Amino acid sequence: MPLPLLFFFLLVLLLNSSNYSCAAKVVTCSYIVPFHRRAHTISITDYGGVGDGRYINTKAFKEAVYAIQRLRRAGGTLLYVPPGVYLTGPFNLTSNMTLYLAAGAVIKATQDSLNWPLIPPLPSYGRGRERPGGRYMSLIHGDGLQDVVITGKNGTIDGQGGVWWNMWRRRTLKFTRPNLVEFLNSRNIIISNVIFKNSPFWNIHPVYCSNVVVRFVTILAPHDSPNTDGVDPDSSSNVCIEDSYISTGDDLVSVKSGWDEYGIAYGRPSVNITVRRVTGSSPFAGIAIGSETSGGVENVRAEHINLYGIGIGIHIKTNAGRGGYIKNIKVFDVYMEDARKGIKISGNVGDHPDGKYNRDALPVVKGITIKHVRGVKVQQAGLMQGLRNSPFTYICLSDINLGGVTGPSRTPSWQCSDVSGIAYQVSPSPCSQLISRPSGSCPNYSS
Ligand SMILES: *[C@@H]1O[C@H](CO)[C@@H](O)[C@H](O)[C@H]1NC(C)=O
Ligand SMILES: *[C@@H]1O[C@H](CO)[C@@H](O)[C@H](O)[C@H]1NC(C)=O
Ligand SMILES: *[C@@H]1O[C@H](CO)[C@@H](O)[C@H](O)[C@H]1NC(C)=O
Ligand SMILES: *[C@@H]1O[C@H](CO)[C@@H](O)[C@H](O)[C@H]1NC(C)=O
Repeated sequence: MPLPLLFFFLLVLLLNSSNYSCAAKVVTCSYIVPFHRRAHTISITDYGGVGDGRYINTKAFKEAVYAIQRLRRAGGTLLYVPPGVYLTGPFNLTSNMTLYLAAGAVIKATQDSLNWPLIPPLPSYGRGRERPGGRYMSLIHGDGLQDVVITGKNGTIDGQGGVWWNMWRRRTLKFTRPNLVEFLNSRNIIISNVIFKNSPFWNIHPVYCSNVVVRFVTILAPHDSPNTDGVDPDSSSNVCIEDSYISTGDDLVSVKSGWDEYGIAYGRPSVNITVRRVTGSSPFAGIAIGSETSGGVENVRAEHINLYGIGIGIHIKTNAGRGGYIKNIKVFDVYMEDARKGIKISGNVGDHPDGKYNRDALPVVKGITIKHVRGVKVQQAGLMQGLRNSPFTYICLSDINLGGVTGPSRTPSWQCSDVSGIAYQVSPSPCSQLISRPSGSCPNYSS
């Protein structure tokens, strides 16, 4: 090769590699689940689906999914939902499928709540979360599946939750309200580029799952809608939530692992949970852990979180009777504006399933690192209440600035009890339970 040409190739190589290293700076969760382009496509309209907003498509969805399950075509099958409004009752998905919502496609839940199928309670909860006994099946449901994708061009899954919220308000619910999407005992799940709207209860609930990616989703519900959590990874491992906007009536993301004696007995932790580049708003928490953490929660990393109008920016919550543990939690780079509380770590939050819980089952909370947090218009910087017989330890706050709202009835910036740890460059200056140091870095805590 002539020398000038060689230089040219070297230059091209160099430019390309610098491009790659640039692109590589944005870390994503795309490596967690292998992506499959489906070999086959069917449309909901091939199975009698009608997108006129009135026809009930439950049978069409069931038959389309059943066809995918029965044919078991190599490479899997994509179920296409064209533009239109497809009213439907709850239906199951199957393995090796993609549910694809075109731009302008809406899968809309029917409001005949009384005809919704009931499913058994989760073993780690022992009963429905809000009512004893069974619970209503989620609108889109999967149990024991692998390789499922819900995606498209930002179509909408609309839970029409109003009827359910009103039953909650009037206390006429017979069983626990349905989630919008729930996967149980499943792995390799991707949920991306979909808009979730007005869920009756929690929006996206992976439970006993592994390798779950939620990205580029928008989750919307009114701020006064009860319990409309955004994404709740529950007794699941390797879950990644990124590049999403969530504005609901409850926690935007909440990591859970079962409830009191049932969760302790089931013993399935949530491990390796990543939350990244999430923006949102809620009267409750931005990033939450708990309060149901009886199976344990370990290795959570939340970073680049932007909250505008939030109850509590970061909320780690548990209770006596929960047992379990919350360990190695890292929260980095949070911006919050207009918050009631910046950071809350508490051992007295949440109700109990029944009177049979063990009051001596005390949770262990250990290794909480919170770094690079900016807040403006934050009414109280932090509230940390451990348990007298199980103090929360290895808490490290570093580079925190939570600008308060001043006024006559202002509460103390920080209130702490039964906690210990270190604080570097924290403003306003933190409670005496945390040892303040002018500089240093948080130890790399891992259990
Ligand atoms: C899904 O696909 C995988 C890999 O192709 C295959 O091993 C598995 O049996 C399929 N599962 C179902 C239920 O079709
Ligand atoms: C969903 O699948 C389960 C089996 O996993 C089955 O028992 C149930 O009847 C199905 N429900 C609906 C509404 O199709
Ligand atoms: C869908 O929404 C995501 C998240 O808001 C956005 O990044 C993406 O560009 C949208 N895609 C289309 C096709 O509109
Ligand atoms: C969690 O991640 C670590 C490090 O990547 C890995 O070694 C471990 O197997 C993961 N845990 C689970 C339960 O998948």
